[in-house]
Amino acid sequence: MRIDILTLFPEMFHNVLGESIMKIAGEKELVNFNLHNIRDFSNDKHRCVDDKPYGGGAGMVMKPEPVFNAVEAVEAQDDVESTKILLTPQGETLNQEIADDLSKKARLMIICGHYEGFDERIRSGIDVREISIGDYVLTGGEIPAMVVIDSVVRLVPGVLGGDSSLQDESFVNKHLEYPQYTRPAEFRGMKVPEILTSGHHTKIEEWRTKEAITRTQERRPDLLEDKTK
Ligand code: ADE
Repeated sequence: MRIDILTLFPEMFHNVLGESIMKIAGEKELVNFNLHNIRDFSNDKHRCVDDKPYGGGAGMVMKPEPVFNAVEAVEAQDDVESTKILLTPQGETLNQEIADDLSKKARLMIICGHYEGFDERIRSGIDVREISIGDYVLTGGEIPAMVVIDSVVRLVPGVLGGDSSLQDESFVNKHLEYPQYTRPAEFRGMKVPEILTSGHHTKIEEWRTKEAITRTQERRPDLLEDKTK
């Protein structure tokens, strides 16, 4: 998978892409990360990327030209057509299903907005999928972009060691994950449930399924609702 990230703050990504699983995905060449500074695509002599909103009001708005220029120039860098994602609180809320869908694409182009917002023509004139990471407003799209990238890259085949770990985790199969324990068997008087140290695999599976359902009923009953009704 190729991921192009268009941002005014490429440095923000260096640590996140250079550590842990993202780093391994890059090193194994399963994902090819490319950072692009939108400012480099401004035709303005001051490399200006924002301006006052028409009609007045607070804050600055991201100009369309540098973003269109960046998208077109970066798209042309590879024959594979990209799925373009615009991070905005107005988009569809990221969930496991969206991450799963994006993980199957050959190329993603992720566009991060900043300032008070972006010129509406960026939304309407570029074929973008708008994604939000939740109902709150951040100062820019960079942290949301990192969230999207992390949720997607870990699903790319080969990035995580054993794919069975993906099967059990929260939200896959529409429920939360069962409680997990590791050594010691007793810590400050708190014991690991006996069943987990019994070595009885069928019983352990039954226990885990029951715990996962109970936990989901208690914490996120909405996940168990039949959405087709
Ligand atoms: N930009 C600012 N806030 C955001 C959010 N919640 N999700 C995606 N992009 C954003």
